[in-house]
Amino acid sequence: MNTLPILENQQRRDFCKNALLTAGGVLCSGVILSALQGCETDVNKVSLTPTGDTFTINTETDEEIKNLIDGQGIKRLIMQNNKSLNNNIPVIIIKVSAMEYKVFTSLCTHESNPMEPPDPRKVGDPFEGKNIWCKFHDSFFDLNGQVVEGPAKVSLREFSTSFDSTTKILTING
Ligand code: FES
Repeated sequence: MNTLPILENQQRRDFCKNALLTAGGVLCSGVILSALQGCETDVNKVSLTPTGDTFTINTETDEEIKNLIDGQGIKRLIMQNNKSLNNNIPVIIIKVSAMEYKVFTSLCTHESNPMEPPDPRKVGDPFEGKNIWCKFHDSFFDLNGQVVEGPAKVSLREFSTSFDSTTKILTING
């Protein structure tokens, strides 16, 4: 997995934090807090621009995906035809039903830490809302990528997909 984006984001945050702490003697705490929030990573802003690339997965033959139960997902770095989905950052692919899959970036929008795919066999009802968990500060996202519980405030970037019910091919638009 490429960890460079995470390191860069952490360095940027540390720089902002140090600079603002130095200025702390002359600034009120409210101003510092507001500025620090501005330094927090917004993964959506980093990778929102569509590339126009498409990636396909045969859900009937893919060894991991064909065995998913509803509400369960996998994390995978997708590279096809010398192109990579999500700027070389793994995505989370969730099987919502036999005819519907969801694809999200796997980086938490709070501080860009990596998240694991949901597994209802371990966490219970897949549709209770807390589907994707970031263990670093306990943010939860639902199957639409919306924040259910913070500190994260920004929903996950979701990739548009289409599913061919005849061929069982999942197409992900980068
Ligand atoms: S990085 Fe995910 S909750 Fe903080």
